[in-house]
Amino acid sequence: MEKKLPSNYEEVFRLIHLSDPHLFSITNVRLRELLNKRVYAYFSWRLHRQAEHCGEVLAALLKDMQSLKPDHIVLTGDLTHMGLPSEFRQAQEMLQSLGPPSKVMVIPGNHDTYVATAWERTFRLWSDYLASDADHCFPEAAKARNIVFPTLRVRGPIALIGVSTACPTIPFLATGSIGKVQMKKLENILDETRRRHLLRVVLIHHPPVPGAVSWRKRLTDQAAFQALLARHGAELILHGHTHRTYLGHLETPGGRVFSIGVPSASSLGRTAHRRARYHVFRLIRTESGLEMLLTVRVYSPTKQRFIDEDEQQVPLPQPTG
Ligand SMILES: [Fe+2]
Repeated sequence: MEKKLPSNYEEVFRLIHLSDPHLFSITNVRLRELLNKRVYAYFSWRLHRQAEHCGEVLAALLKDMQSLKPDHIVLTGDLTHMGLPSEFRQAQEMLQSLGPPSKVMVIPGNHDTYVATAWERTFRLWSDYLASDADHCFPEAAKARNIVFPTLRVRGPIALIGVSTACPTIPFLATGSIGKVQMKKLENILDETRRRHLLRVVLIHHPPVPGAVSWRKRLTDQAAFQALLARHGAELILHGHTHRTYLGHLETPGGRVFSIGVPSASSLGRTAHRRARYHVFRLIRTESGLEMLLTVRVYSPTKQRFIDEDEQQVPLPQPTG
């Protein structure tokens, strides 16, 4: 992983992206908490997912990732499988093991809002990790109410912009939506961060690229998001939800914006494509400007640890003022 850079190149930021660990816990769960849409997720877990998601794989990923000393870690949703309070508590412990909230940022996925559940028993437990920089100035206030999306954190030359697409759906649908209110705020954030010459990284659970997932798993307002991006730009989009590496892009007048999805962080994988991976983005300052290098780390079942799979450059539209 630690490939040497030319002496005149400088790594200025290291961002790690993981997603979709799907933590499952029915410890102390009341029966009535399962007698709703969650019953489908419960049987899906018993029939398929139980064999796919593995605590040892996730533990190996977290250990491997920490050895790389990231500047910031982002998780793009589905930390839980059924959105149960017991799973939120388990995810809270995982987040605390990753680092302080100032270095770890989370957005929700559709499984985290599987059914509507009280804020106090769910997202409040992660509120420091979901929060914007502005919320960290008033942590007690942020805990007391729901987090307002999009969230924004500025770290060095990077603006991390968290968009929520998570909302409860009817059984068998796993769609997501951004909504008009959030879109309007997103426009302002993209403009403001562009004015500050920041490299804008949008975090979103559902892939905003046509054809990335099936109809029942789609982002319902994908077209509106694409139009917004054409008007306001961004430099990179990171998503989850696909449970496989997905390299897509959206064309904008300012250039091609890459949209990169990462597989589940805990998956042994029904196929090699679905095996657990995480992505390491290294922002490099060169003589000609900023470059982004992506290293894919994949779980090796034979070695029972993560190894390099691929390294490639991610072309970035250069931020303009
Ligand atoms: Fe997922």
